[in-house]
Amino acid sequence: MNKKEDRMDSIVALCKRRGFIFQGSEIYGGLAGTWDYGPFGVKLKKNIRNIWFRRFSDNRHDMYEVDAAILMNQKVWQASGHAAGFADPLVECKKCKKRFRADQVEKISAKDDGSGLTGNPTADTGTKSYWKCESCGTSNESNVRQFNMMFQTNVGAIQDDSSISYLRPETAQGMFVNFKNILDTQHPRLPFGMAQIGKAFRNEIAPRDFLFRSREFEQIEIEYFVKPSEWEKSFEYFRSEMKGFMSDVGLSASKVHELEVPEADRAHYSKRTIDFEYDFPFGKKELYGLAYRGDFDLKQHSDFSKVDLSYYDEETKERFIPHVIEPSFGLDRTVLAILCDAYTEDEMGGEKRVYLKLHPSVAPFKVAVFPLLRNKPELIKKAEEIFKTIQTEIPMTDYDDNGNIGKRYRRQDEIGTPLCVTVDFETIEKGNGVTVRDRDSGKQERVAEGELLKYLKRKIS
Ligand code: GAP
Repeated sequence: MNKKEDRMDSIVALCKRRGFIFQGSEIYGGLAGTWDYGPFGVKLKKNIRNIWFRRFSDNRHDMYEVDAAILMNQKVWQASGHAAGFADPLVECKKCKKRFRADQVEKISAKDDGSGLTGNPTADTGTKSYWKCESCGTSNESNVRQFNMMFQTNVGAIQDDSSISYLRPETAQGMFVNFKNILDTQHPRLPFGMAQIGKAFRNEIAPRDFLFRSREFEQIEIEYFVKPSEWEKSFEYFRSEMKGFMSDVGLSASKVHELEVPEADRAHYSKRTIDFEYDFPFGKKELYGLAYRGDFDLKQHSDFSKVDLSYYDEETKERFIPHVIEPSFGLDRTVLAILCDAYTEDEMGGEKRVYLKLHPSVAPFKVAVFPLLRNKPELIKKAEEIFKTIQTEIPMTDYDDNGNIGKRYRRQDEIGTPLCVTVDFETIEKGNGVTVRDRDSGKQERVAEGELLKYLKRKIS
């Protein structure tokens, strides 16, 4: 096992050990591509979500949030192009019958590898692929099939073509189909955006790398409607806002890279896409996308629904279909990037230590309060009193009197709590304040009780 795999294994193990994230349906052997969030994972995700909404919706007046149904009329997906084209290339091993994404398998030259395969040794023609099975090692010459990734279901008791529906593969379409509702009820002026958070589902051929590629995940997306001539301005604006958000949640700027996606690799609706890639332990991979969708979606939905989705500009007296800039964020990929960024091993007191160097803005707990010993009522009484005072001013404060103090520090280190406050005998006997321990350095400072709130707020702000 190489070092990168070690690191991912350690992160997955910490997530399970401390109650961040578990394999979905674990007691039945799991369900590939699904993950369940435990108490600290939920808190981490909630913090990220709140930071996102503060930047992109709460603190602005041009963003309209919706929460559309996951199940939609199948015509939505015909209009959007997903029913026909939301597919990944698939190959199947002739020996073990395992299936893989054709663009992710090890390509071979039919001539050179001695497998006896004949034919054109070109690695991949798009319809034919020469490849080695990563599971059983067999050399294959396969026809590449297109595999539609939408989960199909039937709505109602009758199962025929008319009742087909899909679990949405992106949240975006829930906004396009509500565009007219927003125009009619909110009367916005261009440019304005719609924002939505919610689950998306993709029947990925090869879910992998923990939360990175799963079959059920959460997206937060904006569809920002602009005058056609002004798309570049909004594109550049959101490019910078997306970087601002990554900094808000504490991602290292040096690990984020922008990729101008070439035309051949862009989604069918996109006229320009920038991917924000992140240096995950398993490689540099897409974290978010920023796309210029032109008028593709509104036009398609106008055509398919026969409902006019144009916008009337009162100033210029013109009617037109707005163009769309789409910043698209994967929430689970954000969680993963933050965990990978924060996971740290060092040595403290002669022992190996693991801690999450989380930015205070996303840490599940900002502060934890302990009595030094759990069997001393006077320590507990004072610690509870201090805990209550802090909690009213600093939400997401924890109280812990379980196990010895060293174990409690280790637990909070692994959860990523930036500061631990300990009430000891000096606190109650000499009125000499409390100790505050810094997660990253492990150093403790004695702080007067009257100064404590100010001190903590300054440290976590
Ligand atoms: N509406 C545009 C859209 O859905 P996308 O690039 O296919 O674009 C957007 O997905 C984001 O959703 C990705 O950048 C990623 O963060 C997240 N995402 C996509 N597929 C995912 C998967 N299988 N597992 C986890 N996150 C995924």
